[in-house]
Amino acid sequence: MSERTLVLVKPDGVERGLVGEVLSRIERKGLKLAALELKNVDDELAGQHYAEHADKPFFGSLVEFITSGSVVAAIVEGENAVAAFRQIAGGTHPVEKAAPGSIRGDYGLEVQYNLVHGSDSAESAEREIKLWFPDR
Ligand code: TYD
Ligand code: MG
Repeated sequence: MSERTLVLVKPDGVERGLVGEVLSRIERKGLKLAALELKNVDDELAGQHYAEHADKPFFGSLVEFITSGSVVAAIVEGENAVAAFRQIAGGTHPVEKAAPGSIRGDYGLEVQYNLVHGSDSAESAEREIKLWFPDR
């Protein structure tokens, strides 16, 4: 079933020049880019995007990080796009959870600096797409 997911290349990925690498992996997986934009994230968008984590101890530093530099936002489309992107992203912690061969497993060391975001369900994806691409 074709679906959409929201992908972000976070400030660490943009800073390190890994945007092309991430987009290339998305394309090679067979997923399609339906929208793509470089964005500066304000506290309000960051807080809404990560609303489910508002009570977590890492929330403050997560918002500070995601607003610290440019982010690439993409709508990614295809069969099982939500699960497919989370598979190529790898688990949340780049060393403890993400397998080698995944984006986080290949390029990350620390949980906060895990390079990419992918929606965790089709419902989250539609909510997040509305936030990041209000016209879509
Ligand atoms: P989460 O939604 O659990 O992970 P994912 O991005 O894989 O869906 O957490 C959101 C982000 O919060 C995660 O990508 C990195 C950051 N984070 C921390 O900084 N510390 C933590 O202990 C956790 C669980 C997440
Ligand atoms: Mg998540």
